[in-house]
Amino acid sequence: MPDVLVLYYSRHGSTRKLAELIASGIERVPGVQARLRTVPPVSTVCEATAPDIPDEGPPYVELRDLHECIGLALGSPTRFGNMAAPMKYFLDGTIAEWLGGTLTGKPACVFTSTGSLHGGQEATLLSMMLPLLHHGMLVLGLPYGNTPLMTTSGGGTPYGPSHHAGGDNARAVSDDEATMAIAMGQRLAETALRLSVAPAAAAR
Ligand SMILES: Cc1cc2nc3c(=O)[nH]c(=O)nc-3n(C[C@H](O)[C@H](O)[C@H](O)COP(=O)(O)O)c2cc1C
Repeated sequence: MPDVLVLYYSRHGSTRKLAELIASGIERVPGVQARLRTVPPVSTVCEATAPDIPDEGPPYVELRDLHECIGLALGSPTRFGNMAAPMKYFLDGTIAEWLGGTLTGKPACVFTSTGSLHGGQEATLLSMMLPLLHHGMLVLGLPYGNTPLMTTSGGGTPYGPSHHAGGDNARAVSDDEATMAIAMGQRLAETALRLSVAPAAAAR
């Protein structure tokens, strides 16, 4: 069964909750399964080596995951209006995949979690799209139809699902935020499945 990769970084667990909801949306689509992967933290002092297997949660991503997936959901907490360094560090190591067109023509979406409601969700989501566009990916947004985008009082944007976690990350994912995360996963999986049966057309 083809996999859609859900790749995220999460320090306190909020982005991870969104990742799991997106994965559940992906798995609502028959014939596709979600592959959850994360990235190790980076050291601010010097190059550090994490153990091969994280203490908890899904395994660390390997470059082969990018080759094997038919679509990608990329998630990161917002850090000063941008993605977190560990995710950027991983992406900066994908030059061989860029040269080889590994991700070209595959669909992708982005998601984030913030401490404050207006703390840069949309800026983060838009900037996370940039490396995916360089890789030739087909970036999907979240349509207003059949989603609570118009009425949400928390996260959720046309650029991708998001979560307002609060300053202490204590806010639960709201029903509206969860609905949009699941809808995004479903949309990604349906698109990935459609494109994967016509890979030559998708890569054009
Ligand atoms: C260095 C740093 C920078 C941050 N920058 C922002 C920010 O620009 N806007 C915001 O709303 N929250 C910011 N936060 C809060 C995180 O985005 C928020 O706690 C997020 O929900 C954490 O997700 P996680 O639980 O997946 O790690 C920042 C946190 C850290 C540690």
